[in-house]
Amino acid sequence: CAGAPAGPRPPRRSDYKTSPGRIRVGKFSSSDLAEASASIHSAQDALRWAFDNLHPRLAKASSFGAEDSVLVDMMTKINPQARFFTLDTGRLNPETYDIMDKLERAYGIKFEVQFPDAAEVEEMVMQRGINLFYRSVEDRRLCCGIRKVRPLRRILETLDGWITGIRRDQTSVRRDASYVEIDRKYGGIVKVNPLLEWTWDDVQGYIRENGVPYHPLLDRGFPSIGCAPCTRAVRPGEDLRAGRWWWESKEHKECGLHMDHDA
Ligand code: ADX
Ligand code: SF4
Repeated sequence: CAGAPAGPRPPRRSDYKTSPGRIRVGKFSSSDLAEASASIHSAQDALRWAFDNLHPRLAKASSFGAEDSVLVDMMTKINPQARFFTLDTGRLNPETYDIMDKLERAYGIKFEVQFPDAAEVEEMVMQRGINLFYRSVEDRRLCCGIRKVRPLRRILETLDGWITGIRRDQTSVRRDASYVEIDRKYGGIVKVNPLLEWTWDDVQGYIRENGVPYHPLLDRGFPSIGCAPCTRAVRPGEDLRAGRWWWESKEHKECGLHMDHDA
């Protein structure tokens, strides 16, 4: 179609069909991965290890924060067939769809979009209300469970590894992560965290130096991007995640994608 960038055909979901219900036997033990992590010294090393060992049953989870833009750029430079997915909770900002579209065009890629189960969302909204997340931590986690964690579980059942944009300095849960680790929450597949050791300045520097397209809300004070009703801009000097679920106390600020409470 007119305006589409030249380049390799983006991957289609059917390229990676696996037999339903296949039992996954972990290819790596935790000591294999501890050894691999110790030999990794950069984001690019982590990505090369992941492509060599897990592609094409490997995909990057993208919420379109600055870290995710960096990884789209870095991954497509290493492997133009890299796969990307996103969880469309139904409550994203309009700007999130704009940057998704922009990245697809700029890099000739396609985000595999996962939606929540419509019947589960309908039942939750009927019983607890459309903005249930403001009422209690339990209701907020229920919403994150149905809109994010279960759809994530669904796609991860088809993969041997997933790549995230988490950084060690973001939350207490992330402090103990490794470059490559077993993700027990999702069937023992491999979780790859290439930007683990990066600071916010590193992320911004990479975007500037490589002219990477980034989320329009970043320039409006949103260093962390989530669902529209659960994210606000931060004030100068505030913690970078202060705008996420700002009405909750700090120890609750994980949606369950990267920790063990949940749905
Ligand atoms: S969250 O758990 O608090 O929402 P955060 O926004 O910091 O996570 O993003 C960290 C990483 O989690 C992202 O780089 C991405 O890999 C993954 N992630 C978070 N939200 C989504 C989403 N909606 N779709 C896909 N991946 C996501
Ligand atoms: Fe629901 Fe908010 Fe979690 Fe999005 S971030 S899934 S709207 S509770």
